[in-house]
Amino acid sequence: MRTLAHLSDPHFGRLDRAILSALIDTVVAAKPDVVVVSGDLTQRARDREFKEARHFLDALPTPQIIVPGNHDVPLYNLFARGLKPLAKYRRYIGDDLEPFYSDDEIAILGINTARSFTFKNGRINQQQVARSCARLEACGKNVTRIIVTHHPFDLPETHGPGGLVGRARMAMAGFAHCHVDLILSGHLHLSRTGQSAARYKIPGHSALVIHAGTAASTRGRGELNSFNCIRIARPRVSVECLTWNRELGSFAVSLTDHFQHMPDGWSRIPEK
Ligand SMILES: [Fe+2]
Ligand SMILES: [Fe+2]
Repeated sequence: MRTLAHLSDPHFGRLDRAILSALIDTVVAAKPDVVVVSGDLTQRARDREFKEARHFLDALPTPQIIVPGNHDVPLYNLFARGLKPLAKYRRYIGDDLEPFYSDDEIAILGINTARSFTFKNGRINQQQVARSCARLEACGKNVTRIIVTHHPFDLPETHGPGGLVGRARMAMAGFAHCHVDLILSGHLHLSRTGQSAARYKIPGHSALVIHAGTAASTRGRGELNSFNCIRIARPRVSVECLTWNRELGSFAVSLTDHFQHMPDGWSRIPEK
């Protein structure tokens, strides 16, 4: 079995500091095999925000797979935004924009969907999908294949389709071809897990689309701060959402979803 701690959108610069040490302690106690952070580490891509984010990441277990979010691109400095949109991200967080981890049970690949020409929405392109599939296809057949992006491939019913990552359909067709099992994202600041087959009708393929809430920022959009603990024991996957309880000053499991891999992809196992 492998355990992933999936955190997203801490937004250093708009941080609820009361949460931080409990968040670190809870992630460390979960003993994750890999920590995933799906973007928006900062609020405005300022040096001091990136330094704080770096300090936070240094307190978490390794290995880590981290991708940038739209807030990690400078918003107001148009020179930096246009020419070197991810210069600070690369300096403080990591130079590799396609970080990769693999072992004999899982393979995890990060893809950058943050773009300088769009303020909020992200995009994925054909080259990124082709490179990702080439890497994942080199892994064993029974290795669970996981993609990490900041921008989402699925949305709650209350959201219009404009909030999806740009070129989502093209990317999902590619991911079906190379048998991607899980897609981990953030950006929405909402914790949700669904199956890709509900939106993308691709015969024989249904990936789990797993969104993490905001781990520590004050931009909760109606939900409490949370992160996910994903336990992978193929053909089973469980997704635990750990939610912040301000009164108790701790994170606790608020919801667990269970899934099983079937011939046509991942299906939810109903509660007994
Ligand atoms: Fe965010
Ligand atoms: Fe975002």
